[in-house]
Amino acid sequence: MSQTVKGVIARSEGAEVELVDVVVPDPGANDVIVRIQACGVCHTDLAYRDGGINDEYPFLLGHEAAGIVETVGENVTHVAEGDFVVLNWRAVCGECRACKRGQLEYCFDTHNASTSMTLADGTELSPALGIGAFIEKTLVHEGQCTKVDSSADPAVAGLLGCGVMAGVGSAVNTGQIKRGESVAVIGCGGVGVAAIVGARLAGAGTIIAVDIDDTKLEWAKDFGATATVNSSGTDPVEAIRELTGGFGADVVIEAVGRPETYEQAFYARDLAGRVVLVGVPTPEMRLDLPLLDFFGRGGALKSSWYGDCLPERDFPMLIDLHQQGRLPLDKFVTERISLDSVEAAFDSMKSGSVLRSVVTL
Ligand code: APR
Ligand code: ZN
Ligand code: ZN
Repeated sequence: MSQTVKGVIARSEGAEVELVDVVVPDPGANDVIVRIQACGVCHTDLAYRDGGINDEYPFLLGHEAAGIVETVGENVTHVAEGDFVVLNWRAVCGECRACKRGQLEYCFDTHNASTSMTLADGTELSPALGIGAFIEKTLVHEGQCTKVDSSADPAVAGLLGCGVMAGVGSAVNTGQIKRGESVAVIGCGGVGVAAIVGARLAGAGTIIAVDIDDTKLEWAKDFGATATVNSSGTDPVEAIRELTGGFGADVVIEAVGRPETYEQAFYARDLAGRVVLVGVPTPEMRLDLPLLDFFGRGGALKSSWYGDCLPERDFPMLIDLHQQGRLPLDKFVTERISLDSVEAAFDSMKSGSVLRSVVTL
């Protein structure tokens, strides 16, 4: 028997989001229904609403979520009813060419639910990042559920489902930061600050935070930056070199997603250093740099998709570290809001006044 619950949709490009009735079908053989307890508001939700991802409207928004498994399909073995889970958008398939060569973090064919949730009139919804979690109950594939310590706060745990994992993973997984290395993070929004947290966790020595907004730099310090640079009035490349004995940082993480900040990252690292791009550019952006500098400076230029995370490895570990007091994930939750306040949360996000607004149910 299908059930009807309340969920937040984007009906058309740029239109304000709406809280409407959504029909959740019975789970397919490998699907599960999860009762959502918390879901963070991410830039990607706004990008869906504004047509920046694709035009498969209407979208069911929300994808940084935690909740309780309520119903499981007949073949589900990965989770059971009552499990506390964080939802992920990297349900590794095990069969694609990336998986077969052992690079599960690149899986090109991740699992999603076998059927669609719909509006009351039968219109199929496109769930954001294959999840759709600004809703009382959602339908996902069992592999999209990662069981974590059930004593964790759902509002905190859910954040691992996207932005915070992207940032922490950009430092720990993609950047492979080692003890004592110097790190600079350009852009200190939710993702950049999470990268600072990841750098600290990995044992980085110097952690330089760069932003054009002093408030963000204060947050960055609070999360573990050892130095800050406001790049609106100072050349950040020079400043980073000065703070690293004249050489540049071992690893520079770009968490803005713009050509000018990428160029800063490229030149602010030491010879043979690493650049990690975790900020997401838009299609019209271009980069024009001397090819010789790519050769001459050496090192590694990497992109970080979802922090190169493996949810089954990383989510439980990071929750455990948080529960031990070694990872300040709770500080990312700036405000707790209700399901009908997602549109207002987009405004707060655009104004830059929050790290994360989290819908709690
Ligand atoms: N130089 C330095 N910092 C900048 C610049 C710049 N030229 N332009 C913007 N910033 C800063 C902003 O002040 C802000 O603190 O970058 C930060 C961006 O933060 P948010 O808007 O909160 O975005 P966030 O959620 O952190 O995501 C950052 O990562 O996953 C991607 O899609 C996401 O591209 C986005 C990026
Ligand atoms: Zn795969
Ligand atoms: Zn997201």
